[in-house]
Amino acid sequence: MNKGSDTTTPEREVGRPSGSPHFAVRELDESRETVDGCQLQTIDLYKSYRKGAIEVPVLHGVSLDVHRGEFVAIVGQSGSGKSTLLHLLGTLDVPDRGEVHYAGRRIDHLPTKARDALRNQQFGMIFQFYHLLPELNTLENVLTPLMIAHGAWSYLAHRRRHRARAAELLDMVGLGHRWRHRPRELSGGEMQRAAIARALVAEPDLLLADEPTGNLDQASGREIIRILRTLNEQRNLTIVMVTHDLAIADQADRTVRLVGGKIEPRRG
Ligand SMILES: Nc1ncnc2c1ncn2[C@@H]1O[C@H](COP(=O)(O)OP(=O)(O)OP(=O)(O)O)[C@@H](O)[C@H]1O
Ligand SMILES: [Mg+2]
Repeated sequence: MNKGSDTTTPEREVGRPSGSPHFAVRELDESRETVDGCQLQTIDLYKSYRKGAIEVPVLHGVSLDVHRGEFVAIVGQSGSGKSTLLHLLGTLDVPDRGEVHYAGRRIDHLPTKARDALRNQQFGMIFQFYHLLPELNTLENVLTPLMIAHGAWSYLAHRRRHRARAAELLDMVGLGHRWRHRPRELSGGEMQRAAIARALVAEPDLLLADEPTGNLDQASGREIIRILRTLNEQRNLTIVMVTHDLAIADQADRTVRLVGGKIEPRRG
């Protein structure tokens, strides 16, 4: 990336750039759903962590179905395994037992490279602790999924368009004026908004968001949810969002609760 250009305003082009990157992961057919009509499905997931001789059981048989275009909130007490579940959905970690399916295919046991490609090309992830790269500025952080997806030459060939797209997203989350700042120069809420822009830049089909408003004031949190809801409705973006804020969870189509390592059965 040309760091010399940091001193200039990122290019802004009107509207969404055409031909934005969207690579089909071979063998995965986005239009397909699992046999039960779900885009994302977990079957009886188990996960424990081990620290020496001590085993910390976290998930004990989580079965969750998410349909294409659904906006699902996951709630539960601190330590109940919400982030653990989201990491399994995003293939960042593997379950001890059980399966994760996406777009008609089992994904939890794919080789590392295939999982990396799937995440890069079809999933957007907002991490609870952001995971921004400290040596990159905000705009560059937002651009990282596009750099990975395109590879150096193709990225550079379309650099103006990519930067315009990233700048547009930073504006959308109210961070346009901070694009040159490095993460250490941002507040918690600003880092969170940068992480949201990064998760959306490659136009994912599935957004996995871990407490995306956890560090925001009420008004900013509501605005982020409004943006997510708009993408959900206009682009049919499927969203799985972890939150501890019941008012935020209320904005989703459906709320599921993790209790005792399982999804609490629906009442009524
Ligand atoms: N890498 C790890 N090694 C050992 N234990 C872990 C590890 N990651 C998580 N845990 C434990 O697993 C449990 C679930 O953690 P997780 O982060 O999924 O909870 P959470 O529901 O997201 O909590 P919070 O609302 O506080 O973010 C916790 O008891 C935690 O201590
Ligand atoms: Mg968590």
